[in-house]
Amino acid sequence: MAIKVYLSTAGRPLDPGEATISVFDRGFLYGDSVYETLRTIGGRFVEMGRHLDRLRRSADGIGLEIPFSDPEITAATRATCDATGNADSYVRIVVTRGIGELVLDPRHAGAPLLVVIAKEIHVPPPEVYARGLAVRIVDVRKISRRSLDPTLKTGNYLNSIQALRQATEGAAEDAIMLSIDGAVAEGATSNVFMVKEGRLLTPSLKTGLLSGITRAVVLELAAELGIPSAEATIMPDELRAADEVFLTSSVRGPIAVTTLDGAPVGDGGVGPITRRLSARYDAYLAGIAAGAGRSGAE
Ligand SMILES: Cc1ncc(COP(=O)(O)O)c(C=O)c1O
Repeated sequence: MAIKVYLSTAGRPLDPGEATISVFDRGFLYGDSVYETLRTIGGRFVEMGRHLDRLRRSADGIGLEIPFSDPEITAATRATCDATGNADSYVRIVVTRGIGELVLDPRHAGAPLLVVIAKEIHVPPPEVYARGLAVRIVDVRKISRRSLDPTLKTGNYLNSIQALRQATEGAAEDAIMLSIDGAVAEGATSNVFMVKEGRLLTPSLKTGLLSGITRAVVLELAAELGIPSAEATIMPDELRAADEVFLTSSVRGPIAVTTLDGAPVGDGGVGPITRRLSARYDAYLAGIAAGAGRSGAE
């Protein structure tokens, strides 16, 4: 499997073994970084423009000034993907606050570091999409918006790691986290949707969650299909009583949740609205691969 890593300090894609960074990098020391995960389809980036916008919003939110322009980041990402030779890539774009003295104060940081990792994309096999996931609503709550704004995609992912650990200690494959107030927030690395009586619902951003790019795309596709949708406060019992539940993320797209806290969701199969939206999402990706859709800045 080909993996290539671009480092702004090297200015070119490297083999993983050559791509080393300082132990004094604040991304390593404190998770003092922002990042994006996206994919390519047919060699084209999926929603690069929206990912770069979110990267900058995240950086603004932690007072990190990114000294690389969007075309520079896009060119580095393109070069890294091309260097892998993979037909399609999983892509991670990271900007850290760089190397500093061993003190917390970010004013002591040097120049930000851009890292791009491209590797072969692995999505779950078709049988997993066909059967859906077993998911647990975990005890680990989403960090309060007042502590660390969850709309910022920072390198500090221990909250999600703890949630995933708890879910996978048992039979579950993925975790859903509640907000501090007990409302359904999001998955460990995904957004949550539910269907009740033909209506699509997703937790509102006010709940405190990442404004997922796939979440936004799925809401747009639902509107195109005439499926009514709303952003709402969803309590765990409402989610458990849903007809359908699915998760969304840039890597997996929409993926059904058919078991929640050990009980079947609806009739326990992938529901009709999840199927329709998944098919529409596949067509949206095919459109990007064909050069017709929203690949974003190339
Ligand atoms: C916490 C969290 N929520 C939601 C998502 C889904 O966001 P997107 O659709 O932009 O990939 C992710 C993706 O990594 C995430 O980490």
